[in-house]
Amino acid sequence: MKILAIETSCDETAVAVINVRGEHDIGIVSNVVSSQVKLHAKWGGVVPALAAREHAKNIEHVFETALKEAGITDIAKQIDLFAVTRGPGLGPSLLVGLTFARTLAWKWDKPLVGVDHLDGHIHANWLEPEKPLADIFPALNLVVSGGHTELILMRSHDDFKIVGETQDDAVGEAFDKVARLLGLGYPGGPAIAKLAQRGDPEKYPLPRPMLKGDNLDFSYSGLKTAVLYLIRDLNVKRMGAKMKADIAASFQNAAVDVLVRKTVRAAEHFGVKAILLSGGVSANASLRERLHAAAEELGTPFYKPQMKYTTDNAAMIAVAAYFIHKNETTAPSWKTVSMDANLRLGMH
Ligand code: KG4
Ligand code: ZN
Repeated sequence: MKILAIETSCDETAVAVINVRGEHDIGIVSNVVSSQVKLHAKWGGVVPALAAREHAKNIEHVFETALKEAGITDIAKQIDLFAVTRGPGLGPSLLVGLTFARTLAWKWDKPLVGVDHLDGHIHANWLEPEKPLADIFPALNLVVSGGHTELILMRSHDDFKIVGETQDDAVGEAFDKVARLLGLGYPGGPAIAKLAQRGDPEKYPLPRPMLKGDNLDFSYSGLKTAVLYLIRDLNVKRMGAKMKADIAASFQNAAVDVLVRKTVRAAEHFGVKAILLSGGVSANASLRERLHAAAEELGTPFYKPQMKYTTDNAAMIAVAAYFIHKNETTAPSWKTVSMDANLRLGMH
């Protein structure tokens, strides 16, 4: 079956077509992402009103490009299902994608599945995986992005429970804010990761919040503030390249350390059969390596998305829609799919 999906929850306008021949045989037919990063970079972060306007401006073109790349000339015959991100995210941005998707489903008289953005990130693991995801449930997901830091217990493709989450900033947000303190621009994650390669991760001891007890929640605002104070206390007018690299490496070390330790704690507690990593921060090489090593030590299979599917895209939304649709008894209609900017996985 061929699924066309639309994603506009934040600052990427994305349309993809996938071809599902079976759970373990999912092909990407086209995957188009139009990024607004340059536009928002001058403001140091995503500006919601600007993001929605850009989505509205670009979606038609991104859609046409995805159809062309997929060789789709007859939607009625070649597409079986439409999918769209219905939340969480920026309300005005979500509405652009949702309205577009509802119009398509109405026009072509096809079912439309509304998808949780995080369900999409999790299912990015099913896109061209290194090894098949067989016998993985119950699985533990560490979902880390610009807006979310969550540990999610997954008992099946549509059974999610949030077992830990951030109490304040998301880890991706902390990467972005620390990058700004170091004058590295937006988005900060990739810039910090690159700089950290040349730095000493042990140089500056930074806090690892909420590690005591059996707590599975996270907190990243304290770590960000600790970096702010560190820079102030070092009392240097202009930070040299080496000092910046050491700060980046020490910050990344502390941030990743907490993610890995909490994931291990949760995996042991729930006795899971697999650990899955996902979300934009899953592009971080140090996190990928360290979580892999920790899972190996536990003897638990570890899965991570291909690098190209770590950040926002519509192919992951299409895969999640496939699994939702497979378990549904009635065909989902454009009439009932609604936007929810505060959607929480497992609560709808
Ligand atoms: O999932 P995503 O593309 O968008 C949201 O749903 O939020 O995640 C974007 C976040 C940003 O905060 C970005 O700085 C972070 O992912 N990120 C990284 C890396 N690449 C992207 N963080 C750390 N290391 C990276 N290599
Ligand atoms: Zn995302």
